[in-house]
Amino acid sequence: MSTPQIKKIAVFTSGGDAPGMNAAIRAVVRGSLYYNLEVCGILRGYEGMIAGQFLPLTGLSVSNIIQRGGTILKSARSEDFRSKAGRARAYENVKNYGIDAIVPIGGNGTFTGAKIFFEEYGIPSVGVPGTIDNDLYGTDFTIGYDTAVNTALDSIDKIRDTADAHERVFFIEVMGRDTGFIAVRSAIGGGAEMALIPETRTKLKDIVKKLTATALHTKSSHVIIVAEGDEEGNAMEIAAKVKKELPELDIKVTNLGHTQRGGSPTAADRVLASRLGLAAVEGLIAGKTGVMAGIVNRSLIYTSFEDTITKKKPVNKDLIRMIDILSGRGL
Ligand code: F6P
Repeated sequence: MSTPQIKKIAVFTSGGDAPGMNAAIRAVVRGSLYYNLEVCGILRGYEGMIAGQFLPLTGLSVSNIIQRGGTILKSARSEDFRSKAGRARAYENVKNYGIDAIVPIGGNGTFTGAKIFFEEYGIPSVGVPGTIDNDLYGTDFTIGYDTAVNTALDSIDKIRDTADAHERVFFIEVMGRDTGFIAVRSAIGGGAEMALIPETRTKLKDIVKKLTATALHTKSSHVIIVAEGDEEGNAMEIAAKVKKELPELDIKVTNLGHTQRGGSPTAADRVLASRLGLAAVEGLIAGKTGVMAGIVNRSLIYTSFEDTITKKKPVNKDLIRMIDILSGRGL
């Protein structure tokens, strides 16, 4: 049962939205009510905390949202919360609203905020990883990643049809400002020839070499996935550089953009969100704070915000290796 010090939990979503955030909100609300805790939502993440935008939530408030993309609590990236004055205003509101603990749902920036807030004001927090980027240490998968990859795949499959019909080379840009998780998984699932990601050095000469060997001599269509944060440039820039070297190729570029952030969450994301939302509530009840709930090797673990924020989760090298082998070098 609940420890006496936590009677009211506030949940909010912050940073880039991710499919499955609603399922996580639902789990936090229903989990809190199960343990006889009061629960409320904060609108627009830290922005709403500073502006005092709190709303009580009941079991019914979260009915019929598990399948919906976006977030019923809205999301924002808050500049004001970076300042001491902003956080002081947020604390006044949190105190006045009688909140004893918070469940932030988001990514790196969200947990950085929660960590500082705990250090300054002692508000316990257990975070839930919600970002399509999958770039959080302390969980194998983040909420929204699986859906984003499936959304990307849907488009990649369609682009492959037209690439094949017209014998073109397509550079497809997926999200991932600092990381290539979406790019690698969608490249494997979409049968792409290459994935260009920030974690590995992208060399123009290697792209040109491979396209020369295959596009000009054997395979008639190509799909190359580019993570938006690749150090060689975005898809448009890399495609322009390749076109300069190989003007005879018919090259097109598609940026999948924010389509990857929307849509109904997959089963994997709904289950992950439900597990981690409940784990956040149970963690708080057990006295945990300054940690993120995650699943590693199928087991629930809590990782300190410090580690989550500072440690880098590597992209699986074996998966990167596979892309080249399975793209059919010897065809
Ligand atoms: O962090 C998630 C993410 O979708 C990144 O992949 C992307 O770079 C960024 O958010 C885009 O953010 P915004 O929607 O604020 O432009």
